[in-house]
Amino acid sequence: MSHKIAPSLLAANFLELGKEVELINTSEADWLHLDIMDGVFVPNISFGFPVLQDIKPICRKPMDVHLMIVEPQKFVKEVAEAGAYMMNVHYEASTHLHRTVGAIKEAGMKAGVTLNPHTPISLLEDILYDLDMVLLMSVNPGFGGQRFIEHSVDKVFRLKNRIREKGLDVLIEVDGGVNLETGRQLVEAGADVLVAGNFVFSNPDPQKIISELKHL
Ligand code: DX5
Ligand code: ZN
Repeated sequence: MSHKIAPSLLAANFLELGKEVELINTSEADWLHLDIMDGVFVPNISFGFPVLQDIKPICRKPMDVHLMIVEPQKFVKEVAEAGAYMMNVHYEASTHLHRTVGAIKEAGMKAGVTLNPHTPISLLEDILYDLDMVLLMSVNPGFGGQRFIEHSVDKVFRLKNRIREKGLDVLIEVDGGVNLETGRQLVEAGADVLVAGNFVFSNPDPQKIISELKHL
């Protein structure tokens, strides 16, 4: 199965959100990645649930919601009502992660757990069997357009091996600094989903870039 592409709307033109979503709809993108930040878990604030609610009726790609917030378990209902396909919560923000993962699935969504660059994959040992996806951050979360952390490739490789050893069906998504070169390294290492923000939206032809990322 070929890898998926999830363009991140964070890098889009917010004055033209409808057009930007339509651009994704008619592209080879597999999912739309949506970044929610609270200014506490990460040193930045993006957009919130009203924006997701407005996107829901016009978005024809599954919505991949990445919550960079403290206490993400408080918002399972809101994320589900906003039409999310996948809800990603940070490991570092979740005290009772097993309970939160259960609540996400009960609400009808797929469950993803996100790791900051410094968080070892070994911490997932006793939750991996319960997950639909692991989202590995390849930059420190909070901002688009940052430089890719090279060590992430090795992290993907090791996580892929662990998933295979355990015979599990868990996707690996990578987020931050993805371009054609880093994307190719990540897919070779075993990444299933690539998030790309600036590389897609700062190009005059985002659909062409999405296609290039899809056919690495
Ligand atoms: C960063 C966000 C990313 C961001 C990626 O905290 O989680 O999804 O949009 O942007 P690029 O691809 O520009 O690094
Ligand atoms: Zn993200």
